[in-house]
Amino acid sequence: MAERRPLAVVVLISGSGSNLQALIDAQLQGAPIRIAAVISNKPDAFGLERARRHGIPTETLSHRDYPSREAFDADLGALIDRYDPGLVVLAGFMRILTSGFVERYHGRMVNIHPSLLPKFRGLSTHQRALEAGETEHGASVHFVTAELDGGPTIIQARAPVLPDDDAETLAARVLEQEHRIYPTAVRWIAEGRLRLAEDGLPHLDGEPLSEPRLISGEEAALEAPRVRLVM
Ligand code: GRF
Repeated sequence: MAERRPLAVVVLISGSGSNLQALIDAQLQGAPIRIAAVISNKPDAFGLERARRHGIPTETLSHRDYPSREAFDADLGALIDRYDPGLVVLAGFMRILTSGFVERYHGRMVNIHPSLLPKFRGLSTHQRALEAGETEHGASVHFVTAELDGGPTIIQARAPVLPDDDAETLAARVLEQEHRIYPTAVRWIAEGRLRLAEDGLPHLDGEPLSEPRLISGEEAALEAPRVRLVM
């Protein structure tokens, strides 16, 4: 049987890029992906350094140089398309996207969000989970639609909220789960097992996911080899 060509992926970041690192590690460990470029809207994002260390092309497009969201997103789309990706991965890309941009990558763009969606869309999710008295928090990977953090959810992982947690300790525990589920979801797409179907739901192995796949740490570790983190 002919080998499937690796899926070309463009990763968008704004910061540390630890989720990017998890994807780089997955690629190194044999996931059928090729990270074609990493694009940041912030020139000093540490994730750019992570990419350079692995010989991945990097680009910076500062939103500050643009008069409007539309103008920025138009150039961002043109830049992404130069790498002809099959998938755009938002990994801590801290920008609200225009509907035109979202439409351009319909079914070909995923995001990771640090909460058990639909709970806690938007920012400061860890602080809000603590204030709400949650005993459990987590992370979700979803296809991106025009609704902020509202697209169909693919996979989630839970993390317990411990009595002494502050937003920082809780964020660190959730981030560990992010590093497990994001490569898993991207790998499923690359393997042709997962797609956003016409019914608006993610389909995994031909079956609609009306609920996100909930994956425990142990299961994810089997799916995706453990991440080697460089902070
Ligand atoms: C992650 O918590 C992600 O869920 C959120 O921003 C953070 C990015 O972290 N959207 P990193 O840059 O991948 O380390």
